[in-house]
Amino acid sequence: MSWLTLLLNGRPNGLRARLRGRSTPTTPAPRPTPAAAPEAAEKALGLSKEAPKDVNPPDGFEVVLHKDALEDGRIIEIIIGGTAIAVARIAGVHYAVANTCPHAGGPLGDGKLTGNHVTCPYHGWKYDVTTGACLTQPTVSVKTYRVQVVGDAVCVEL
Ligand code: FES
Repeated sequence: MSWLTLLLNGRPNGLRARLRGRSTPTTPAPRPTPAAAPEAAEKALGLSKEAPKDVNPPDGFEVVLHKDALEDGRIIEIIIGGTAIAVARIAGVHYAVANTCPHAGGPLGDGKLTGNHVTCPYHGWKYDVTTGACLTQPTVSVKTYRVQVVGDAVCVEL
């Protein structure tokens, strides 16, 4: 240790070092747990129950929702594994389609669900969420995803 460092900082176990130790914590403050984030997102979506974490989905499927989280007649956007899907519940059965409207990219999960039909919030094209067929432009369709309920979990094949 040079005399200049000693002059500026003091001795390693001296009074200044001890005072620095009081003002600078040696262990970082605890960070918020990431587990809290999904619950906050589910609440923000208006979902009443969180997706079960103790379910093993079938091969190729991902758990997306608790089976009772979404009310009948509702549709929501869920991003799972980097893919945005729209999940709807109709008469107790869940359906999943691509979230992006082929017309101009509207988010179908933010659309209005009437019966089997979701209306895109951007320009009003209608899609049948059970088949993916577009009712407005018959040559167009959205991708559908297979859905299975395992225990309390709604699982979607991605
Ligand atoms: S983006 Fe969906 S109808 Fe235009």
